[in-house]
Amino acid sequence: MNPYNPKIVDHFINPRNVGEIPNADGVGTVGHPSCGDIVRFYIKIESLNGQEVISQATFKTFGCTTAIATSSIATELIKGKPVKEALLLKNEDVAKALGGLPAIKMHCSVLAEDAFRAAIADYYKKSGKEQLLEEVREQSQIHEEKELLSRNSGKGGKK
Ligand code: FES
Repeated sequence: MNPYNPKIVDHFINPRNVGEIPNADGVGTVGHPSCGDIVRFYIKIESLNGQEVISQATFKTFGCTTAIATSSIATELIKGKPVKEALLLKNEDVAKALGGLPAIKMHCSVLAEDAFRAAIADYYKKSGKEQLLEEVREQSQIHEEKELLSRNSGKGGKK
């Protein structure tokens, strides 16, 4: 039986927003230590009504079906969002937007989340807003704690 729902399959076969953004404002690359998959996000930021908004988001990946599908939908989720709002997105939101993932593939959605967060961190660094990096760290820390808790309770998924 195919463990992937039609939406995952669609984003895998027709990934949205693939490629590089020339002169991206932020680029974030992360790899998963156990499977070796790699995801890179590119973001472009615009100022809109006094807010910094992610106007473009693209990705490239050397990864599995789910890494591609979650990265694809994550670009759609963060595009058009204020940076601070995008920072609050979690891998669970990414998985939910795809209609759910097989439990063993949840870690792939973490890769997408970490990659867009790394791109935001890169943007903060490049634009001299280092003081805002703490916000990125805070969100990542919350996530790491949750991962740890789910791993300790036996719910964590690995390839
Ligand atoms: S990201 Fe490594 S198996 Fe999906």
